[in-house]
Amino acid sequence: MSVSSIDFSAPAVFHFPFDISSPNSQIPKLLDRLVYTLLNFKTDSAEIFQSIFDEDPNCFAGQVILTAAELTESFTGKSIEENIKKCHQLADKLGSRVTDWESRWYNAVYTFKTISCRQGCHILMDLLAEYPFDLIAVIIGMFWAFYSVDKFIMRDLIGRVLPFHPESHPYRALLESLYGFALMECFAVDRGSKLVERAFQKDPRHPWIIHAECHSLEYNGRTEDALNLMRDEDDCYVDSTLGFHNTWHVAYLLAEHSQYDESLVVLQSKLADQVNSASRLSDACALLWSLRMSSQIVDNAEFTQLLTKVSDKITDHGCAYFATHFAAALLGAEDYSGYNTFRHSVNNFTSKYKEHDIVKKYEDFGLSMMDSVTAYSLDDYSLATDKVYSVQDEILTLGGSQTQREFYYKVMYSSMLKMRSKEVDRRLLCSLNERTGHRELPPSALKIYEGLTKSLERDGESFSF
Ligand SMILES: [Fe+2]
Repeated sequence: MSVSSIDFSAPAVFHFPFDISSPNSQIPKLLDRLVYTLLNFKTDSAEIFQSIFDEDPNCFAGQVILTAAELTESFTGKSIEENIKKCHQLADKLGSRVTDWESRWYNAVYTFKTISCRQGCHILMDLLAEYPFDLIAVIIGMFWAFYSVDKFIMRDLIGRVLPFHPESHPYRALLESLYGFALMECFAVDRGSKLVERAFQKDPRHPWIIHAECHSLEYNGRTEDALNLMRDEDDCYVDSTLGFHNTWHVAYLLAEHSQYDESLVVLQSKLADQVNSASRLSDACALLWSLRMSSQIVDNAEFTQLLTKVSDKITDHGCAYFATHFAAALLGAEDYSGYNTFRHSVNNFTSKYKEHDIVKKYEDFGLSMMDSVTAYSLDDYSLATDKVYSVQDEILTLGGSQTQREFYYKVMYSSMLKMRSKEVDRRLLCSLNERTGHRELPPSALKIYEGLTKSLERDGESFSF
């Protein structure tokens, strides 16, 4: 894509307002267009970055933002290492010409990669205190936190700058929905839902706002409405970067409503071929496991097909959320040799980065979850239960949304139910009770909850909450 081919009259609503070191007058326009692309979940960000480097191969702002964007999904891959190296080389080359805004971004990226994702996010927060209109920092920072640290950082990144964007701001509805989503992920479902609903009323066709509305409906127990919304409005999001994930919500919700065949058809016909990243692999893998745990026949080849699509990314270790899904996919395919190699690679990664906070999630939850799925796949439900039950509180702190993390709960519930023990059932009921404090249970969990409530009623007295 050349600069002349880009339609700047498309709603690029900002003049890119930050000082940058590049002398090329096209770069601010291209960065402006990048804001539009990222905030509208358009699919042309790769072309825009290419145009930036065609215009100015030494564009520091472009290089740092590209690296930051890659860090949302990858931590040790070849591409990220090369991009980090380019950042360092450009910083050395430009010296004092690096601007304050660029320097802050570079510091955030460097800190995330070498020391701590949490600290990297905090540097972005400080950047936002100086430059509250940097919506690239908002969106990328939120996704850094979403996958790698915790939802409170994600919430605070947007919460700190939302008041600077008045009602008339062109992205106000989107920003409200981002904040509402983050609040819901921090278990403030009532307050978050109100913001999301408000945004949805203002801009009901935005791919992210529809997605946030879907989560709101799910967490409020309106899963049928969520399914109808995502099916009816697919033309709003299918061609966006959220096309895969929003379609996954359809497949997930079909499975939640026991429409397993339909769910598998959506996965096979609309999703499997598009798996090209750790997040997509995670969504698809969790769905296949959920179907299998619902006693549906899911061939090992379904998992193998997914893994083939991302074979070059399996050892791009980063957040524990992705790693547990890569492990689950290998185990779902019954590729135990591949799994052993993967675990060896995980051990090397966690040893190498043991001081980095991204590894903490492996130690607190990820490794136990991998052991649990391994035991489950070998029909050792007692061990599978022990491994996940003892770290269940960490499920709340891991990457992904509450909906995406349902996979972990499903492994725990399925393992516990297969033990056929009243004592274990009582523990499971308590775990489900606990979750009702966070959100309305999804249909599959509610079914288990109601079944256990009935079978465990003591002395004829009904439980009540
Ligand atoms: Fe989602």
